Amino acid sequence: MNKITIVGAGRVGESTAQFLASRDMCHELLLLDVREGAAEGAALDIQEDAPLFQFDTKVSGSNKPQDMTDSELIIITAGIPRKPGMSRSDVLTTNVKITDEIVKNAMQYAADAMLLFVSNPVDILTYRGWKVCGWPRNRVFGQAGVLDATRMASFIAMETGFSALDIDAMVLGGHGDSMVPMIRYTTISGIPVANFLPQKTITDIISRTRNGGAEILALRQNSSAYDAPAAAIATMVDAIVHDRKRILPSVAILDNEYGHHDIAIGVPTVLGKNGIEKVIELSFSKEEQVAFEQSVTMVKKDIETLKNL
Ligand code: 2OP
Repeated sequence: MNKITIVGAGRVGESTAQFLASRDMCHELLLLDVREGAAEGAALDIQEDAPLFQFDTKVSGSNKPQDMTDSELIIITAGIPRKPGMSRSDVLTTNVKITDEIVKNAMQYAADAMLLFVSNPVDILTYRGWKVCGWPRNRVFGQAGVLDATRMASFIAMETGFSALDIDAMVLGGHGDSMVPMIRYTTISGIPVANFLPQKTITDIISRTRNGGAEILALRQNSSAYDAPAAAIATMVDAIVHDRKRILPSVAILDNEYGHHDIAIGVPTVLGKNGIEKVIELSFSKEEQVAFEQSVTMVKKDIETLKNL
């Protein structure tokens, strides 16, 4: 890929830039932030480790939206983070104004780009971004499930003592308290996790996964998670730039998949050079169906509040 822009030089944006640059995922990487000097400083700091990490990516920073011109992928991390005790929905009113502006800039300067939303509440902001730009849905999507799944896989590794390398977890639904950890599709070297852990432990892992972002926020107090989120973003970007056709959960605009449309929510997708190339439909158990529908209801409630903003 030639050019990727990351909007927001906060901790998630900067950590993502470091991942993408150090893996040479594009020729040109731009960090954009409204705060003067913030993106330039972060970009220079990363560029200076190129000889050590051995990469050729040109990393630059700017506070001028026009510098995103010709970006093929725009990663949106800008926005206010939540404070301890706040839900992701609590930051909606502020963040929607910020992401609306970014999407309008993308329409003006990089109309062929893909938009990858990360700012929270990510399902709602992805939906809103898609409504604002009107681009095909394969080019407008969000990151949530890769992060939630890596958290769940890590908790399973901690509980079982088995290698994290062998654990494949799946988490669908909205990126919030109603997310849907899919235990039936979570395996250790292809063996369902229920073979290794008692139900009580699995139940605890599910609630720890749902609470994964809040757990880190409560510990750090003044910062949300950023290392695992950045690794999750880099995983999606890697699938796109290398056209890998990986099956990863994305926040996708549904078009009658799972019986819903006009909503963005976490579902399994095929990620390749065109962004979301396919939404994969799974058959749900009764319990999974109920959990997914509850998640849809929560996301729709926030989408409704958008209409009054
Ligand atoms: C998280 O789950 C901030 O939503 C982000 O850590």
